[in-house]
Amino acid sequence: MKHTVLTLRQQKRDGDKITMLTAYDYSTAKLMDEAGVEALLVGDSLGNTVLGYPDTLSVTMEDMIHHCAAVARGTKDALVICDMPFMSYQTSVYDAVVNAGRLMKEGRAQAVKLEGGADFAEHIRSITAAGIPVCGHLGLTPQSVNALGGFKVQGRDAESAAALIEDALAIEEAGVFAIVLECVPAELTAYLSSLLAVPTIGIGAGAGADGQVLVYQDMLAMYGGRSPKFAKVFADAGAVMREGFAAYIKETKAGSFPAAEHGFAADPGMMERIVKRTA
Ligand code: KIV
Repeated sequence: MKHTVLTLRQQKRDGDKITMLTAYDYSTAKLMDEAGVEALLVGDSLGNTVLGYPDTLSVTMEDMIHHCAAVARGTKDALVICDMPFMSYQTSVYDAVVNAGRLMKEGRAQAVKLEGGADFAEHIRSITAAGIPVCGHLGLTPQSVNALGGFKVQGRDAESAAALIEDALAIEEAGVFAIVLECVPAELTAYLSSLLAVPTIGIGAGAGADGQVLVYQDMLAMYGGRSPKFAKVFADAGAVMREGFAAYIKETKAGSFPAAEHGFAADPGMMERIVKRTA
């Protein structure tokens, strides 16, 4: 079944938790899609996980388009959502619409995500008016890491929680189809989820969200033990990969790889003829 912004909304009504994972390439997206993950987020976290930057600020439109197109090619049923990178929408409403359009046309995204609250309501309204679904992102918004003073839990005190609620209502009114809540207290997430008609998707935001999203390298322990507190390790793919790489080195050095079955045979008599001709 093809997952869309409408089916995600229906899942919230049905109390069916939405599953979302980040994806950055064709083969991983295909595995996730085949497993039944309902939404794939081409997150600008690819700046950290794929490109090795310390944050997401250097990620470009070209990076996002390149990875999103690969994910879209590997995906049949999941909804493909692409992050708008830093400074692709903050500069103006016009830039926001043009760049959201590029992620759809060139990256083959089916929706875009942008970080921010009421200040971006007009951007969200204009992008959705162009026929492009927008997912919001509140709480810890990594593109604002310097303004936030680090990667910190947001909405812990009454004042910041009230501001977060106002932002959520403002972007829902502007037309978002879902809101990612990152590093928000569990109680606030549960309250927001009951307040909003659109689904909330939590990451480090407790069980009260209408769905969950994780960075897949975190949930598969591919970061050598550097996963954040909220990211449960569901399988130790990092260990399996390291074992595989070590076994390859061992067998290659020992000469036991490749074996005959990993190669190709010449036509019968070819070697005798070639040796006679070239000797
Ligand atoms: O870029 C990303 O991976 C994200 C998730 C953390 C929600 O925005």
